Amino acid sequence: MNEAYGGHWLQPGHIDVSHGPILYVEDLSVVFDGFRAINQLNLSIDDGELRCVIGPNGAGKTTLMDVITGKTRSPMARISGSVFLGQTMDLRRMKEAAIAQAGIGRKFQKPTVFEEHKVWENLDIAMAGNKHWWATLRARLGSEERARIEQVLEQTGLESQAYERAGTLSHGQKQRLEIGMLLMQQPRLLLLDEPVAGMSDHESMELADLLGRLRGGCSIMVVEHDMDFVAALAGDSGKVTVLAEGRTLAEGTLSQIRENPRVVESYLGR
Ligand SMILES: Nc1ncnc2c1ncn2[C@@H]1O[C@H](COP(=O)(O)OP(=O)(O)OP(=O)(O)O)[C@@H](O)[C@H]1O
Ligand SMILES: [Mg+2]
Repeated sequence: MNEAYGGHWLQPGHIDVSHGPILYVEDLSVVFDGFRAINQLNLSIDDGELRCVIGPNGAGKTTLMDVITGKTRSPMARISGSVFLGQTMDLRRMKEAAIAQAGIGRKFQKPTVFEEHKVWENLDIAMAGNKHWWATLRARLGSEERARIEQVLEQTGLESQAYERAGTLSHGQKQRLEIGMLLMQQPRLLLLDEPVAGMSDHESMELADLLGRLRGGCSIMVVEHDMDFVAALAGDSGKVTVLAEGRTLAEGTLSQIRENPRVVESYLGR
């Protein structure tokens, strides 16, 4: 538990979504040395929603995730506007660790699992957070911890690999394990940046199934260029946001997006 915000003692469950979205971005701008990577961006994601974000290279997608997670890659960056988790957590005033504690999990492209440890041990380590994980491994698992690990093994489709070393997993399985490690922290919002890069078509569809199963439980924002994957995630009714030049170019179902002439011109038609 941490001093997450403004000196108030907040626990992950205390995100107030009673009157609105889980993530609320308003009039956000990020300027690097005169260059506007994000330009008066507005975006909101509903609690439990799975949102796909697409857009050309350099549109500002990764920069947006950096701002949400409190990771400013450049001391030169000038940031303005609002980014809120629920109604009360002003993410711009929180440090990276506090934002993670508050319930935002982020997955980077390269899987970072503990290769020498077994799959279930990776989940156990993730549950403890980064603190004293070596002690965790030696301690006996309580029945609650065991149940939690089993649940995540099932969610990620890794039950048969539970006792294998993580280093022996395929790329797709490692990616799913890493998502499982994020799930152990019971996040309210998961951010995934190009999760299917380097995966086979089959592995991508397995990941789409996994994220589909999480829908409604935690909110998810996925940035991806692979349109088959986006189609599998969004289905007929899921909302897709198109970013271009640091702002929202279009938002709607995938078929609405595909018919939007501005989207075709700036991205999909290329
Ligand atoms: N630290 C930085 N300093 C200067 N410019 C930056 C910095 N970080 C990002 N940019 C610029 O901001 C713009 C947006 O970059 P960003 O990485 O967010 O794009 P993206 O939408 O994630 O693209 P891609 O699809 O290629 O991953 C790019 O023009 C990039 O060069
Ligand atoms: Mg990017």
